Amino acid sequence: MGRTIKRELLPSARVLGIETSCDETAAAVIENGRKILSNVVASQVEIHSKYGGVFPEVASRQHIRAIHTIIDEALRQSHMGYSDIDAIAVTRGPGLPGSLVVGANAAKGLALTTGIPLVGVNHLEGHIYSAWLYPNSGTRTPMAPKFPSIILLVSGGHTELILMEDHLTYHRLGGTLDDAAGEAFDKVARLLGLSYPGGPAIQKVAVDGNAEQFNFPRARLEGTWDFSFSGLKTAVLRVVREYEETNKPLPKADIAASFQAAAVDALVTKTFAAAKHFAVKEIICAGGVSANKALREALSVQADFPVHIPPLSLCTDNAAMIAGAGYFRYVSGHVDDLSFDVMPSWVLE
Ligand code: KG4
Ligand code: ZN
Repeated sequence: MGRTIKRELLPSARVLGIETSCDETAAAVIENGRKILSNVVASQVEIHSKYGGVFPEVASRQHIRAIHTIIDEALRQSHMGYSDIDAIAVTRGPGLPGSLVVGANAAKGLALTTGIPLVGVNHLEGHIYSAWLYPNSGTRTPMAPKFPSIILLVSGGHTELILMEDHLTYHRLGGTLDDAAGEAFDKVARLLGLSYPGGPAIQKVAVDGNAEQFNFPRARLEGTWDFSFSGLKTAVLRVVREYEETNKPLPKADIAASFQAAAVDALVTKTFAAAKHFAVKEIICAGGVSANKALREALSVQADFPVHIPPLSLCTDNAAMIAGAGYFRYVSGHVDDLSFDVMPSWVLE
């Protein structure tokens, strides 16, 4: 599939992207898979933080309320109408079924009434293509990532190490055997009594902590490209219990900093090893956890491989990345039938 795209001959196209896989209602307009004409995100974080995590029924109800306003706003900000749009890309999975359906139905309705082709996009592929995006400002087009590259995809639901050989061509090397990296951040934050989402909360508290105070385990899983975060999470739980039992104040900052250091170390060590092993041209890190400052710094302090990490606003869920990936699918000849179903457990292949 990837080889059907001749990179030097990429056709020009504008794609409207729609994303509702979890707790962000988002729409965006992207030109040629890369230039962001608009990128609108309505976050439900404040609503879900009351529950300490995403409440699926509440999420889909909020998506229904927001979706059409957000799509209209994305078009308005891009100064485009439907006659300027070549394809509509929507997240088909993975994600929460009741949330995915809202975006998919909105996209199908628009495709039906306008006659614009519809492309269902894998959310993880969207995160990967966030590395191709750039803002609609400045005169120079930034360099696109080069193939082959190693992708470290770290989000709330996934932790995957992928060898990307060409556009839309992936070879999954390994992934987490238990918790996703973002899930580990979220669970440890809960243990420390921090707010949801846990990643940013841990990062904030860790600033004042000593990352060497606790020597938390790094699962090496030698001979594989897999990760494991459950041992690390259990080690944090053990420390928290010890403090609770002795009624000593919990050293939250030190625990957060030491946990973050262990998680980042595990992710970065394997990513560099894979990059070296497969002699890739670049490393791409994407997904919500790629917003983590310690992870970004650890990936960037080496000269062996250029590293692409999207700007913070494109790390967490957005529709620009869905439109970006949708463009590359669309120009490779991929268009979906309007009868498609959402795929809540869709594996990236
Ligand atoms: O990609 P994303 O927005 O949604 C999914 O597709 O899952 O990722 C959300 C995850 C959450 O687990 C959140 O805690 C984590 O990304 N996250 C972070 C940071 N910002 C978001 N983790 C660590 N440090 C951060 N700064
Ligand atoms: Zn995501």
